[in-house]
Amino acid sequence: MRGTVIETLRLKHFRNYPELTLSPHPGLNLLFGPNGAGKTNILEAIHYCALGKSHRAGSDREVVEREEDAGACAVTVRGTMGRSEIMVRLTPGEPRKKTVWIDRKKAERLADLMGHVRCVIFSPEDLSLVREGPSQRRRYLDMMICQLDPMYFMALQRYARAMEERGALLREARKQEAASLPDALLAPYEAIMAAESRSIIARRRQAMARLAPLAAEKYGAIAGDGGEQFRVDYSPNVAEEEDLARTLREHRWVDMNRGAATHGPHREDLALSLNGREMKLYASQGQVRTAALALKLAQLLLFREETGEMPVLLLDDVMSELDMRRRTRLLGEIGDAQTFVTCTDESDLEGFRDCRTCHVTLTEDRRARLEETRPGPPVPDAPAAEEPDFS
Ligand SMILES: Nc1ncnc2c1ncn2[C@@H]1O[C@H](COP(=O)(O)OP(=O)(O)OP(=O)(O)O)[C@@H](O)[C@H]1O
Ligand SMILES: [Mg+2]
Repeated sequence: MRGTVIETLRLKHFRNYPELTLSPHPGLNLLFGPNGAGKTNILEAIHYCALGKSHRAGSDREVVEREEDAGACAVTVRGTMGRSEIMVRLTPGEPRKKTVWIDRKKAERLADLMGHVRCVIFSPEDLSLVREGPSQRRRYLDMMICQLDPMYFMALQRYARAMEERGALLREARKQEAASLPDALLAPYEAIMAAESRSIIARRRQAMARLAPLAAEKYGAIAGDGGEQFRVDYSPNVAEEEDLARTLREHRWVDMNRGAATHGPHREDLALSLNGREMKLYASQGQVRTAALALKLAQLLLFREETGEMPVLLLDDVMSELDMRRRTRLLGEIGDAQTFVTCTDESDLEGFRDCRTCHVTLTEDRRARLEETRPGPPVPDAPAAEEPDFS
């Protein structure tokens, strides 16, 4: 199966890379080196080009190299949408803090980015999908659907903006100790929230209907014995026929006192269970790890089904966490997808198929240095890419 391929990656003032140009292998790329060298920073840059944001918590400001005003990351990518050059520029001090450039033209919206580079990231933090609160699982779901559907991303943005405006009005009313709430001001925002919520929920339901069986199947395949039934169910906060505008109107006082909207798609969750018991409470370490891996593999399969193309895979520090059987299964699923693997020890990938290997180390002034140590298998001739314009 064809896959998205990143032909070049360029960084400028991105984390501890003042400048970098990398021509990745279309197959397996291994980045190894000591802790803190800058391996994950490379995966993060690819994630930025896919979704306009980091896979780690934190602000865009933190990503720009210290002491610098602006940073950028760019990829030339070949995929279902043809060949494109994507750049994300971060300028935290300017009014428009983040701009996206597609084929050297400034895009009007961040949503225009979605779908050019699709990626799935596997990292040790995936365990929080099972262990922690609903926000981690919503993020997983949202990031997945955004990459398939830019309209979903726009719906989420409009929903969040309307919720923020409504929240500001309620905070103001509370501060003023108002005896009544300004219906004429609140109602339009509640109407937007309700309208956007309908399309958000419909898309979530649709994605979950396909994802749930895939995740259950992958869990079974990784666990190997048939005795564990893993389930992931969409856990809605808004009922299918519910009029959210009405619910919001009825809960204005509650929401004002709580300081947050108590109803809406921003409160939804995924319920994970094993043999009918909630995973968060009962699962062992290994079961948690298997469930997290199954959710990510299901995402990979969903992308493949919906787009007919393998996404780029980013495996951050996961090899050392997996036993041999899980590792082999994971690499078996990956097939021909372009993959970036980070690990501290080159031997973590020994015995697996051919890869291009880069050693990432720190210079004396704590900048990353990247050195190719193995070129990997020969690459079929590809047309040379032009360098992106960072100015
Ligand atoms: N904005 C920034 N400017 C300069 N350096 C930064 C910035 N943000 C992070 N760093 C540096 O980047 C390095 C961390 O990079 P990264 O997370 O990629 O490490 P890693 O190689 O993945 O390490 P580990 O093996 O521990 O996961 C640290 O040295 C950190 O100081
Ligand atoms: Mg790392």
